[in-house]
Amino acid sequence: MSERPANLTPPTAELHVHIEGTLEPETIWELATRSSIELPYEDIDDLRSRYRFEDLQSFLDLYYQNMQVLVTAQDFADMTSAYLQRAAVAGVKHVELFFDPQAHMARGVELTTVVDGIFSALAESTERYGMSSSLIACFMRDRDPAEAMHVLQQLLEMEAPVIGIGLDSAERDYPPRLFEEIFALARSNGLRLVAHAGEEGPADYVRQALDVLRVERVDHGVQSLADPELVARLVREQIPLTVCPLSNVALRGVPTLAEHPLPAMLEAGLKISVHSDDPAYFGGYVDTNYTAIQGVFGLSREQLAQLARNAVDSSFISPSRTRELHGEIDRWLAE
Ligand code: ADE
Ligand code: ZN
Repeated sequence: MSERPANLTPPTAELHVHIEGTLEPETIWELATRSSIELPYEDIDDLRSRYRFEDLQSFLDLYYQNMQVLVTAQDFADMTSAYLQRAAVAGVKHVELFFDPQAHMARGVELTTVVDGIFSALAESTERYGMSSSLIACFMRDRDPAEAMHVLQQLLEMEAPVIGIGLDSAERDYPPRLFEEIFALARSNGLRLVAHAGEEGPADYVRQALDVLRVERVDHGVQSLADPELVARLVREQIPLTVCPLSNVALRGVPTLAEHPLPAMLEAGLKISVHSDDPAYFGGYVDTNYTAIQGVFGLSREQLAQLARNAVDSSFISPSRTRELHGEIDRWLAE
C-alpha cells in the first residue's frame, strides 16, 4: 500500500476496475488456505513472480486461474471490502465496479453467491467511506454469446442490483457485433451499456461497440487512434473512453509509459479519464495511475483535475452527485 499523501492526486470516479483484478497475492493465499484449495504455486513469492505478462491473454490465464479461490459469498464480500478500503485511500469518491459472472458460474459458483457477496460489501461504501458505488456485470467475449444471454436473463429475473452491462476478456477475433442481442435486451430493460473495445482489437471494434451495441462509454479505446475518422467522431460526440495507462504498459499495448498516447488523446480533445483496470496485477490503483502519468508527462494539477472531471462526467451518477464531486475536485485544486 502506498505511503504517499492522497492529496497529490484528485478525488475521482473509478469507472474501469474489475473486482477480480483487485485480488492481491496475499488475499489469494489467505482465501485458498481458508477453503483448503491447492494452488499451483510453491509460495506467495512464486505467485508474485507470475505477475509479468506478454499480452492480454497471458494475463487472463492467470486472472481466471486465481479466481478459483472465490467460493463463498463471504469470499466475494471480503475481496470487495478490501478493494473499497484501498480505493478510499486512492481518493475514489464513486465506483462503477465490474465483475465477471460467467467466470464464476463456469466453476460451479451460483450467480446469487457472487452478486450477494459483492453487493453486501458495496452497500456499505457510502456509510464507511462516503463513496457512492454501483455494479456492472461484464460478459466474456470469448465464451458463447448464448451463455451471456442466459446469464443476463437470470440477472434480470433475480432483479440483481446491477446498473449496467459490459463486455470483456480476450478481444481479438471476438467482434462486438456477436453480442448485439444481449446488449439490445439489456438496453430495453433500462440497463446502462459499456464495452471494452480497442484494447488489443482494431479501431473497427470501437465503431461496432458504438453502432451495433450502442454503448455509452468505451473501455480502453486506445486503438481508435489508428483511425482518424473514428477519432474525429469520438471527439465530436464526446464519447467517454476509460483509459488505463499502467494496464496498457503491463499488457504491452505500449512499450513504455512515456510512449503512451494519453497526451495525444488529451490534445485531440477526446473525453478520456484514467482508471486502474486490474490494479493488483498491473502495479497500482487509480492514484498510482495518476502519479505515474503525472511523473512521466509532467501534467499540471489542472490537467489532473480535468481527467477527474471527465471521469465524473462519464459516470452514471445523478446530476446532484455530479455537482458534489465537481465541488470536491475544485476544493482539491484549491488546496
Ligand atoms: N478482464 C479483466 N481485465 C481485462 C482487460 N484488461 N481486458 C479485457 N478483459 C479483462
Ligand atoms: Zn478492463
